[in-house]
Amino acid sequence: MSTISAPADARRLTLDGVYKVYVSRGESLLAVRDVSLDIQPGEFVAFLGPSGCGKSTVLNMLAGLERVTDGRVLQGDRAIQGVNTGVGYITQDDNLLPWRTLLDNVAFPLELRGVGRSERREQAHALLRSVGLEGFERAYPYELSGGMRKRGAIARTLLVDEPVILMDEPFGPLDAQTRLLLQDELLRLWSGSGKTIVFVTHDLVEAIALADRIVIFTSVPGTIKSVHRIGIPRPRDVFHIYETDGFSELFDVLWAELREEITKARARH
Ligand SMILES: Nc1ncnc2c1ncn2[C@@H]1O[C@H](COP(=O)(O)OP(=O)(O)O)[C@@H](O)[C@H]1O
Ligand SMILES: [Mg+2]
Repeated sequence: MSTISAPADARRLTLDGVYKVYVSRGESLLAVRDVSLDIQPGEFVAFLGPSGCGKSTVLNMLAGLERVTDGRVLQGDRAIQGVNTGVGYITQDDNLLPWRTLLDNVAFPLELRGVGRSERREQAHALLRSVGLEGFERAYPYELSGGMRKRGAIARTLLVDEPVILMDEPFGPLDAQTRLLLQDELLRLWSGSGKTIVFVTHDLVEAIALADRIVIFTSVPGTIKSVHRIGIPRPRDVFHIYETDGFSELFDVLWAELREEITKARARH
């Protein structure tokens, strides 16, 4: 029997007194100020805050794409240094490779890992079926709608066996119906996967529907204003989340906090 030590560890993320200062054209900007947060293995955490408050910066530091100016960012007990291959990252654009078919896009991470052609095609087929993209395997990204491309990108990220998935406003540009369908699909694919998800959104209802905890950031320099546990039982019905007991009280509390920060951010411009 293998005794590889606690794989669960790599699903834990720790931000410890994290600061980020950007320097551009001789000006420095404090973007993130003293952010400390422990994210538990398998947890679904949503980040909410006014635009420009540093949410993407925090994700980029978790992905190892930006260095911290001060403080520590850990995955498990390992400090993140350089590009972090231990996370899957869905950025605001979908990042599908335009010269590859949908199937080959979804199978790409497996290809990088040296998985054989027939096995990776089989896995990619199964995943595309599960996100309702059966029949589009041979289509190129430009032949697909925004929602389909996003589903493809999500399928690709879920096929990678990374313990953590970072998602930056992944459903932002989509229409309301498509967003609901994708939220539902995401929860279905995530449940039982044991993966940790950090999900940035500007949509409070989306955050409530998806997350175990919601972290509200202040306006820039972004720091954590408050953290809220969302006790709505799972599996959740994203289509009727408004009707859940306690929804409107929760919405009102969170919205009051968020609005305060959005107002402050606006006053600066
Ligand atoms: N590469 C960069 N260079 C300089 N400033 C940046 C850079 N990236 C982001 N910023 C600034 O840092 C702040 C936080 O940005 P960001 O993390 O993108 O916010 P959010 O994702 O919450 O909208 C903003 O004021 C933004 O203009
Ligand atoms: Mg952003």
